[in-house]
Amino acid sequence: MPIVTTTEMFEKAYKGGYAIGAFNVNNMEIVQGITEAAAEVNSPLILQVSAGARKYAKHVYLTKLVEAAVADTGLPIALHLDHGADFDICKSCVDGGFTSVMIDGSSRSFEDNIAVTRQVVEYAHDHGVVVEGELGRLEGVEDDVVVSAEDSSYTRPEDVQEFVERTGVDSLAIAIGTSHGAYKFKPGTKPQLRFDILEEVARRLPGFPIVLHGASSVIPKYVDIINANGGKLVDAIGVPEDMLRKAASMAVCKINIDSDLRLAMTAGIRQHFNEHPEHFDPRQYLTVGRDYIRELVKDKIVNVLGSDGKA
Ligand code: G3H
Ligand code: 13P
Ligand code: ZN
Repeated sequence: MPIVTTTEMFEKAYKGGYAIGAFNVNNMEIVQGITEAAAEVNSPLILQVSAGARKYAKHVYLTKLVEAAVADTGLPIALHLDHGADFDICKSCVDGGFTSVMIDGSSRSFEDNIAVTRQVVEYAHDHGVVVEGELGRLEGVEDDVVVSAEDSSYTRPEDVQEFVERTGVDSLAIAIGTSHGAYKFKPGTKPQLRFDILEEVARRLPGFPIVLHGASSVIPKYVDIINANGGKLVDAIGVPEDMLRKAASMAVCKINIDSDLRLAMTAGIRQHFNEHPEHFDPRQYLTVGRDYIRELVKDKIVNVLGSDGKA
């Protein structure tokens, strides 16, 4: 099976009340850990690549790794550009074998966001590639760009129909209170998401797939392992898993996870070095990092996303 688009995955996920995990990949061990987990529980997958990942690993290495994962597992896997900032990076990924791209025009004016998204959709659709757009801004850090709490803003449900109709996008990322990174909520406050906005968006766009960014849960187990082995993560708080389950049962068909992968891999490697300070073969500690990613992703698929058995 070749790398697939997200069209069929989203149709089934919407109807079935579950979501597809979109996991960020940066190297071979991350790709393998995620896809081995998905293979164990027979789940479809979205593997996504940021501009930073392309800079770190090079486009061609990441596409070849994802092609290898498809050949190895036979799973339906989509290869997606995460947070494309402009037409050029989206075009480069369409031309370079991606099956899905995100054009993130969320920091632009409504009209400029529509114009650039429309331009990407026209090019991508001509090449059989699907497009994710974004309305509303998430707080947090992406590719060294920091969006402050004051500059973040919830999606306005009254804008979504016009945006989708005028751009032709295939899915839409919305801002309902999640943010990127490991520090999502103020310590001592109760994490809250605006499910009322999600509900209203879904009412206005029946059957249309919605995307949730910034959806790592910052699982205490991994934070504790990191801190017990020399790390310093203070007040790292993520999105509670029951909220993600609720979003997945609603219109959310794609749930983006990166920070949890980073935390799991770091936890495994830090613990390994503490237990084996004499080791210096990368295969020894990267095996542990990959194992930690596999365990995390399996748990996400089965206990949070609900996409197990849906490949
Ligand atoms: O949303 C951002 C993702 O976590 C990717 O992060 O740009 O550091 O690769 P990155
Ligand atoms: P997290 O930082 O919560 O993992 O979010 C990742 C993301 O949204 C990638 O686009
Ligand atoms: Zn994101």
